[in-house]
Amino acid sequence: MFTGFRVRCARDILDFVMATGKTFYLETFGCQMNAHDSEKVIGTLQQQGYRQVESEEEADLIFYNTCSIRDKAEQKVFHRLNDYKKLYQAGKRFGVLGCVAQQEGEKIFERAPFVSLVSGSASYRKLPEMLTRLESGETRITGLDDRQTEETFETEFMARQNPYRGYITIIEGCDKFCSYCVVPYTRGKERSRTSSSILAEARSIADMGYTEIQLLGQNVNSYRDPEGKMSFADLLANVGQVGGIRRVRFTTSHPRDFTRDIVDAIDAVPTLCDHVHLPVQSGSSRVLKLMAREYTREWYMERISWMKAAKRQISISTDIIVGFPGETADDFIQTMDLLAEVQYDCVFGFKYSARPNTPALTMIDSIPEAEKAHRLHVLLERQKEIQRSNYAKHLGQIMEVMVEAMNPARGQIAGRSSQNKPVNFTTTLPISPAPGSYVKVKIIGTFPNSLVGEMV
Ligand code: 5AD
Ligand code: SF4
Repeated sequence: MFTGFRVRCARDILDFVMATGKTFYLETFGCQMNAHDSEKVIGTLQQQGYRQVESEEEADLIFYNTCSIRDKAEQKVFHRLNDYKKLYQAGKRFGVLGCVAQQEGEKIFERAPFVSLVSGSASYRKLPEMLTRLESGETRITGLDDRQTEETFETEFMARQNPYRGYITIIEGCDKFCSYCVVPYTRGKERSRTSSSILAEARSIADMGYTEIQLLGQNVNSYRDPEGKMSFADLLANVGQVGGIRRVRFTTSHPRDFTRDIVDAIDAVPTLCDHVHLPVQSGSSRVLKLMAREYTREWYMERISWMKAAKRQISISTDIIVGFPGETADDFIQTMDLLAEVQYDCVFGFKYSARPNTPALTMIDSIPEAEKAHRLHVLLERQKEIQRSNYAKHLGQIMEVMVEAMNPARGQIAGRSSQNKPVNFTTTLPISPAPGSYVKVKIIGTFPNSLVGEMV
């Protein structure tokens, strides 16, 4: 489905695309920032006369928008390239976009000589020009703007892939330099968009019929309005008041920049979802220091206490890394204690993975793989029990659910609560509610990761 930024032009573009006959396949790895970048890349390619196809075999151009956050994500990309390299002989061209592209740069041409284009996200503005060069037969095209770039990647045309949730990037890049993380090297320095352009985009997607907006940034709450008009909390409140918008989410928040007015805004503006993702990474202040996270456990817990004291019940989720170089058994116990203290609704747990260019690479990765796996297992098992009890508290409640999809096999309708919890429910109505609509559901069963209900 093409849901362009400028709806009036969509037909013209489709006609143009059908006439030129050029095709592309794009696969996205990694985070929501990458997924949303892909929406912009697809919009840009369509504007250049390309039509999206479903498989590598059908495409003239094969693009992978890659992730390098952990070793495994990166390996996946090279495996995929290897699986399809035979298509080069058939005249197909390959492009590597995103974080692996920025990280590895021209080395990709050595490792995968059939790749013709390598571009990191900070250079996507130049994609039209790079495509022209690709079409003229050039084979070593690079877009590797580094941390110097001041530009954000806003495109006039965007092929939004999620029919209900409109993503808006408000800040790109990262200036935090956590010692384990590649992002500052792959996505450039922090660049915020003006609040006027963000609000204009919010209004425009509301006009298109979207009711849910998700504001995106590697550190979304490090937002600094270049016009100096709004703080991040002001921006949240303003987006929440755009006509037609019923839910506003934002991800990912950094504890260092998490201010109390964000919680106040959630309390004051009902359209702001009662869910905050606040990665802690470790419960040990000693490890947090080694990670260069720029906060202590106490600082983090103070932010948690603001949320726990809010009028609305705010659901909190987090990311945790186990097995960071030098993490002792005692450090890990502190992380487990923190888990018990916060009572998260969701935890993404990761084994530490050494990444190129990062300061942690020089620390001795002392913890054996088996121990990392053991700690992760212990963490996730404990968290499962916490979630079992957290989710059980919803039994008997009536909550608003946005319908996302039908699951005919299970005779259930799938949706999400404002707290971002998956809700699977049934209805006695002859016609199921349409995806994208909001319904009231009574919760009749609970699991550690989802709720079960009946529409009321
Ligand atoms: N090793 C393991 N996990 C990592 N993350 C980021 N870098 C690494 C790494 N080198 C995790 C963090 C981050 C999430 C997106 O990925 O927990 O919040
Ligand atoms: Fe992966 Fe990080 Fe890049 Fe997102 S920003 S794609 S998580 S490396």
